[in-house]
Amino acid sequence: MQIGIDKIGLYAPHLYVDMNKLAVRRNVDPEKFTIGIGQEKMAVAPITQDAVTMAVNAALEIVDDKDKEAIDFVILATESGIDHSKAGAIYVHHLLGLHEHARSVELKQACYGATAAIQMAKGHIALHPDSKVLVIGSDIARYGLATAGEATQGAGAVAMLIGADPDILALEENSAFKTDEVMDFWRPIHSDKALVDGKLSNEQYIAFFTNVWEQYKAQSGLGLADFAAITFHLPYTKMGKKALKAVMDEGTDDDAERLMTNYQISAEYNRMVGNIYTGSLYLNVLSLLENKEDLQPGTRIGLYSYGSGAVGEFFAGILQPNYRKQLPVKQHSQSLTSRTKISVDDYEAIFEETLPTDGSEVTLDVSADPAEVCLAGVKDDMRQYVRK
Ligand code: COA
Repeated sequence: MQIGIDKIGLYAPHLYVDMNKLAVRRNVDPEKFTIGIGQEKMAVAPITQDAVTMAVNAALEIVDDKDKEAIDFVILATESGIDHSKAGAIYVHHLLGLHEHARSVELKQACYGATAAIQMAKGHIALHPDSKVLVIGSDIARYGLATAGEATQGAGAVAMLIGADPDILALEENSAFKTDEVMDFWRPIHSDKALVDGKLSNEQYIAFFTNVWEQYKAQSGLGLADFAAITFHLPYTKMGKKALKAVMDEGTDDDAERLMTNYQISAEYNRMVGNIYTGSLYLNVLSLLENKEDLQPGTRIGLYSYGSGAVGEFFAGILQPNYRKQLPVKQHSQSLTSRTKISVDDYEAIFEETLPTDGSEVTLDVSADPAEVCLAGVKDDMRQYVRK
């Protein structure tokens, strides 16, 4: 039995800031952001979106009535969760109207969380082949205004249905992973912004990649020639390219050309959305599958997942016949191109607008947010969600 990704849904907030404009405001050469870091647009989440609403909005794109019957496990991977105790997955389960005989949990390990969720889901499906697992990576990346990390912020969610005999990507058994104690990125419990040692983080991302790649090759007997494309967790689109270049000498000129060309295509959505932490690798996968029209079924796609702190993993999947029919390509490109560009002033105001931390109530105006599921306020310390 094959197990893998059956459907992929995407949600990105309807607002974005232009990286050229942000660079000018920060007195930085725009090419540092657009070429040096490789970002064009940065999605901005209004206060009416959080990790839960974005997760549900992504899942609504893929979950139909038949799936609702089959889903018995909901895993929300996030590092911008809304509660220290209760799993955001329970709100997701409720807002999607799933049946009660399901497990719902939240998973955390920085940007690696959704990969851990997929591996857990694979085990679950192996035991329960008729069921489906809903895995969602949903995050708002916040480093702070005028910080070095600011240009690598973003917001959004990718929802995936994991099941037997999948329609999109059958995940292979080989998988190489590594954990090490590294303080490259973290978010103390009192802070709503991440702390980062950017240089260390870049180094570790590449070091973990070469480590798990070597381990994977030894385990599988495969090499660069066996991959149509390698997808990456992308905090910014230059990052994965650096890692890919670190192993490029192993292949032929043809391998280098194919993998680099497909790398650029896989980074297109990430360039337009920014860092979505847990969902970034899967946004990269989605971008490759939707924007590279002639990617052949039966070919192998590599996935490199990295979560600061740190855990890294390399695994792979085989593209299934008719995989493109499962993807709402036009809908995604339309929703990404029809977003509203906001000024840097508006972005800064939205960034500073946060929920009360003293237990007081707030009612939010959801009329300006076109998303189906929104945060409508906080009452008695409980978030109030609406499905329009
Ligand atoms: N034109 C073109 N490129 C330019 C440029 C210009 N005018 N000015 C600078 N650059 C390039 C630099 O050469 C560098 O490229 P390189 O990395 O290939 O050498 C790149 O832009 C970034 O410049 P740098 O000075 O290193 O940026 P920084 O110190 O301000 O911050 C990050 C860089 C990305 C590390 C920082 O944004 C960060 O901390 N991000 C969050 C953490 C993260 O994403 N970690 C990755 C692992 S998950």
